[in-house]
Amino acid sequence: MMAAVADASAPRALRVAVLSPDLAWRSALAARLAPVEDLRVVRHGDSERPEDVEAALAHGVDVVVWDAGEGGAFPSALGEAWQRLRGGRTALVVVAERLDGALYRTCRTLGAAEVVARGAQLAELTEAVYRAGREAASGGAAVAGMASAPAAERGLTVALFSLRGGVGKTTLAIELAAALRRRLASPVALADLALGAGAVGVALGLRPARPLSDLLGEAASLDGETLRTYLTPHAASGVEVLCAPEAPEVAEYVRHAHVAAIVEASRSAFPATVLDTSSALGEADFAAAQEADSVILVLGPDLPSAAAARLAIDLFGRFDIPVAKVGLALNRWRSDGPDPADLERTLGLPVWARAGEDRAAVTAMNRGLPVSHVARRGPVAAAAERLAARLVGGARPAPRRGLFRGRRT
Ligand SMILES: Nc1ncnc2c1ncn2[C@@H]1O[C@H](COP(=O)(O)OP(=O)(O)OP(=O)(O)O)[C@@H](O)[C@H]1O
Ligand SMILES: [Mg+2]
Repeated sequence: MMAAVADASAPRALRVAVLSPDLAWRSALAARLAPVEDLRVVRHGDSERPEDVEAALAHGVDVVVWDAGEGGAFPSALGEAWQRLRGGRTALVVVAERLDGALYRTCRTLGAAEVVARGAQLAELTEAVYRAGREAASGGAAVAGMASAPAAERGLTVALFSLRGGVGKTTLAIELAAALRRRLASPVALADLALGAGAVGVALGLRPARPLSDLLGEAASLDGETLRTYLTPHAASGVEVLCAPEAPEVAEYVRHAHVAAIVEASRSAFPATVLDTSSALGEADFAAAQEADSVILVLGPDLPSAAAARLAIDLFGRFDIPVAKVGLALNRWRSDGPDPADLERTLGLPVWARAGEDRAAVTAMNRGLPVSHVARRGPVAAAAERLAARLVGGARPAPRRGLFRGRRT
């Protein structure tokens, strides 16, 4: 039974509903939240009863704290009520024992703003509720439901990924963007999602056109044209760069929904977008792997790199990131390192490209250029060409009048 548990009349307090199949748990949580400032638990009810969900939403709550219970699957009747009634104004905070594939899909489908572990401290939960409530109030909760461009007009996105640092993600991301730019004869976007210590801007000698922190506030309505105002052109390569925040602490505020909005906007404006990530497995790194059409798993020439790749592949499996979209890039490859054929066999993924030691790599970084601008036919440039060919076709196409050309303002 849904119960009204407190007066909702306090001005400006966030109105919260707590839904759980476990009466004792939800009552205890409501009691723990009761003294929290600026937050009122106005309803609690059973998360498995559509009428309780409907009642909470009809009551105009700002945030629903939804306990996923044992199964973690959101019954479809609840999903329908949620989509029909919330109107983008109610944020969902999911409380779960663990985030598995089924629950992750549910969270994405419903546009959950936050996921919190069931055993989390009260402070962590209330912080998630505040964040979700603020985001919903500013329209942020609508991000996950943002209209997509028609499939035919969507550019491809590719993420460079590794759980091991320093293996060459940024080097290959820059070089791949430059190779795609040449191959497509059209502007290509490169987003630096290695947010804590973004290196693309430094490696290309760029200062951000506009701070990424401003974009976070605009994510709910981000389209291709708005995204362009945040991009800094790299004149020598023709690549348009979304620089990481200059203040690393901004990274903490970047949510999956922001990355999804950036990727969608970029897809609508560019035929190709490259996403550089960090090896820290932050929310943005994971979101990049999730949202991208293709993922290039970068390995260095040593066994720990292969072990990190194994971990990444297992992680993808657990979170329903299809391994069919993942390929390996072996960087700084050397004959005494792991054998490519062995790696393919043990990791179960194809090697899409490999690059040996390239003296031009460090020179290029120090000169603010892609490696191919220093050594056109070196190992890194050749590997990026192979990756680009795999992604957009084997032959270098002639400059074309396509969907994405002539859009630039
Ligand atoms: N094939 C290569 N040959 C020689 N040096 C390379 C090669 N690839 C990358 N490097 C150098 O290795 C260093 C690390 O590369 P890079 O910054 O691209 O790695 P990363 O995976 O992005 O690192 P991080 O995890 O810190 O973001 C850089 O100095 C780069 O110039
Ligand atoms: Mg990097």
